[in-house]
Amino acid sequence: MSKIAAGKGDTKYNIYISNKISKRTLNQYLKTYNKLLVVTDSGIPKEHLKNLKSNINNRNVYFFTLPMGENSKSFSLYQKIINELVKFNFDRTDALIAFGGGVVGDITGFVAATYLRGICYIQIPTTLLAQVDSSIGGKTAINIPQGKNLVGSFNNPKCVFISTYFLNTLPQKEFNSGLGEIVKYALIGNRKLKKLIENNPQQIKDKKESILRIIIEESIKTKSKIVTRDEKESGVRAILNFGHTFGHAIEAYNDYKNISHGAAITLGMIIASKLSFYEGHIKDYQLDNVINIVDSLGLNSDHRKYNYFKLKKFMANDKKVSKGKLNFIMIDKNFNGFKTSNYDIKNVKKALN
Ligand SMILES: NC(=O)c1ccc[n+]([C@@H]2O[C@H](COP(=O)([O-])OP(=O)(O)OC[C@H]3O[C@@H](n4cnc5c(N)ncnc54)[C@H](O)[C@@H]3O)[C@@H](O)[C@H]2O)c1
Ligand SMILES: [Zn+2]
Repeated sequence: MSKIAAGKGDTKYNIYISNKISKRTLNQYLKTYNKLLVVTDSGIPKEHLKNLKSNINNRNVYFFTLPMGENSKSFSLYQKIINELVKFNFDRTDALIAFGGGVVGDITGFVAATYLRGICYIQIPTTLLAQVDSSIGGKTAINIPQGKNLVGSFNNPKCVFISTYFLNTLPQKEFNSGLGEIVKYALIGNRKLKKLIENNPQQIKDKKESILRIIIEESIKTKSKIVTRDEKESGVRAILNFGHTFGHAIEAYNDYKNISHGAAITLGMIIASKLSFYEGHIKDYQLDNVINIVDSLGLNSDHRKYNYFKLKKFMANDKKVSKGKLNFIMIDKNFNGFKTSNYDIKNVKKALN
């Protein structure tokens, strides 16, 4: 088992990564709480839930199952979880456990941030995307009809337990979605991760445990380093949005249906890399390198369906607009991400053709 520290000051927390969760370490945390509410969703295989139950020593453990899917990040389900906490008299000596993907993690973290002005919660992410991205960094949220993640807070968990074991049951589409974010960390600065991916694409596709564990670990190191430096997203955290301005536009164009977040941002990263090339920040062989990495993992790199005219209106809505000009995250010749509003719009159009 390896351990990575994240956060700072009072909100420091550890992230544990292993094949199977260590019962002893988990209970070292859990024993400090009287009652626990495990929030999960209907798509998480029952065997995982049974396994978690058998790993918890606490006597007062309650379960709440959300319907699976993005629609569960809603006010009405937020209210239902709160109702459960009230029903069982939860107070600040008790805690929540988020057991699932990013949907479960986001809403559970938000309930924890607001119930009684804040109680503790623990993340046990079960999707690859949640393991390398959403469970780290303390962003929590629910959706409202006006937009995704518009109501939320920054709220670090007490700890995060990551087990590669859960990935064995993950559908291919969800696995690929998480791989997209892993490629992102490799392209914005983690050169060790980039080499690991370049040297082991088949093992990754085959979900070989030893390689998965190390690429997850490297991804978390990059994310936690960046979010710990910039907890409230005022500066360097922006580079985590590499591929996301184009990717969010692709998701919005598709009405958030039929394309996973990771698949959309993978296309977004290809487009952003082309833009970096047309802007002169990377060489042609480096652009080929990016495309080869994506292809070698069996991810889609063909973004021809989405041209400038289709995406334009959705890009203007992106949160990353400052002073009327859209910021883009680009990459440089050393494969470091950087934020810039200094570019020629002609190159954006060219990248999108
Ligand atoms: N807080 C953040 O920083 C952050 C970052 C990125 C994404 N997000 C949020 O995360 C959400 C997406 O998360 P996601 O991609 O994990 O999707 P998800 O939570 O919807 O999970 C995807 C599907 O996989 C199923 N599943 C989960 N674990 C499984 C397992 N081990 N085996 C089989 N099936 C399993 C779920 O039931 C669900 O149907 C979005 O709401 C997004 O806004 C948050
Ligand atoms: Zn993302």
